[in-house]
Amino acid sequence: MTQDELFKVLVAHCKEYGFIFPSSEIYDGLAAVYDYGQMGVELKNNIKQYWWNAMTRLNENIVGIDSCIFMHPRIWEASGHVGAFNDPLIDNKDSKKRYRADVLIEDYLGKIEEKMNKEVEKGRKKFGEAFDEAKFRETNPNVLREKARYDEVHSRYVKAEQNNDFAEYRQIIMDCGIVCPISGTCNWTDVRQFNLMFSTSMGSTADGANTIYLRPETAQGIFVNYLNVQKTGRMKLPFGIAQIGKAFRNEIVARQFIFRMREFEQMEMQFFIKPGTELDWFKVWKEKRMQWHVNLGMGALNYRFHDHEKLAHYANAATDIEFNFPFGFKELEGVHSRTDFDLGNHQKFSGKKIQYYDPETGESYTPYVIETSIGVDRMVLAVLSHSLKEEKLDNGETRTVLSIPAPLAPVKAAVLPLVKKDGLPEFAQKVMDELKYDFNCQYEEKDSIGKRYRRQDAIGTPFCITVDHDSLVDGSVTVRDRDTMAQERVPVTELRKLIDERVNMNNLLRKL
Ligand code: GAP
Repeated sequence: MTQDELFKVLVAHCKEYGFIFPSSEIYDGLAAVYDYGQMGVELKNNIKQYWWNAMTRLNENIVGIDSCIFMHPRIWEASGHVGAFNDPLIDNKDSKKRYRADVLIEDYLGKIEEKMNKEVEKGRKKFGEAFDEAKFRETNPNVLREKARYDEVHSRYVKAEQNNDFAEYRQIIMDCGIVCPISGTCNWTDVRQFNLMFSTSMGSTADGANTIYLRPETAQGIFVNYLNVQKTGRMKLPFGIAQIGKAFRNEIVARQFIFRMREFEQMEMQFFIKPGTELDWFKVWKEKRMQWHVNLGMGALNYRFHDHEKLAHYANAATDIEFNFPFGFKELEGVHSRTDFDLGNHQKFSGKKIQYYDPETGESYTPYVIETSIGVDRMVLAVLSHSLKEEKLDNGETRTVLSIPAPLAPVKAAVLPLVKKDGLPEFAQKVMDELKYDFNCQYEEKDSIGKRYRRQDAIGTPFCITVDHDSLVDGSVTVRDRDTMAQERVPVTELRKLIDERVNMNNLLRKL
């Protein structure tokens, strides 16, 4: 299956099994807006719990808040979003379709990378065990030709990005012969800036209404509450404030399912520190966040850092944690050293003093900030795309399984009476009653046991518990493991412990 096909299968699977639905579907949907179904919401909540507890429980100096989506409009002037939160847009005059110029170029670069990788794979197949990838990349003429092309376009792109040189963006697109996927032509307009914030009005009459914005990041809600939390929590530097909440961006190139949405959720943490210590803390948080990801067991090689060459208007160091999505390595999380840009500007724009009195040195200063920022939805996509597998079984059949890390699985155990009679449903219901306070369990009695196993595999349930006639006699049940499909007989009294060992979130947190 190609990566594209795999992605289509994933989108269909998410809908079929109640993870993710297109929003407003009965009205033909709303572009780049998605709803979470009965399975999706459980997965999302588990991801949020893993993040929230890793931040606030494992760090005594990090506390949480929940600030509002609506905020004073001056906040977005102070943060730089009114002036600088723009995407470079380009239109194709034939198809009338609009694109992000930077994304067109990045996709083009991605395709060159793909070509190089294909050559490498060909070499690997040809030379077998003796294959030396590094040497092949240094010597193969096809790879070298593609690499030279990549380097040339990439260095022009980075320079154009650094200088905000929109004419050069267009020139790169023309020189590379990048065409509109709809019209297939190179008939492009100039590149223009487009602000990504959604606005609405607050107030009951049109006259008295004020234009306000739907927040494009949750971080500003933390900055403007810095003093409240520091004072009421008697927090001493270094300390952090964590928040999970919705953010909104009028993304022009909104695609790749829930990767880029117009309404999405962020998990952000601002860590306030003494100026001058920021690069040390930046390193600490880069590593800590990578560890949080790798700890889930989805393969360390599926993550990589991508240090920013062009820094955002607020940063003096920044990196992305990229994940190997079905469409290649892409940003999953950002770690940014934001200096005192935000607190400094809020001090200026609000006229309120935002400083920290350091009891150790007797100085007052505006703290610096390290930010970690991850999209919940991107994390959901990372987990689902990594977990979805089609497996060939020994008997020649195939099964679709979601091998979601067990503590994140929406349903932890399914309780299945073998037949719908002879007292088995009643016994199974008792097992449910025993387990439901500790784990999200599902009771299912419809269809053959094989079909029920397949349904539970497809939603990623780590354990299936089957109640049969022997259960009534010996008080034991058959427990089937999702990943190995191995079955073992377990007394009902030992079920809770067995399940807990695999699915308890605290075991994951203890490994951090
Ligand atoms: N406060 C910093 C900030 O918002 P960002 O790199 O623009 O930084 C942080 O966003 C994270 O939010 C990204 O790494 C990504 O996971 C998520 N994100 C950003 N835009 C998104 C979108 N349109 N749809 C889904 N997730 C998005």
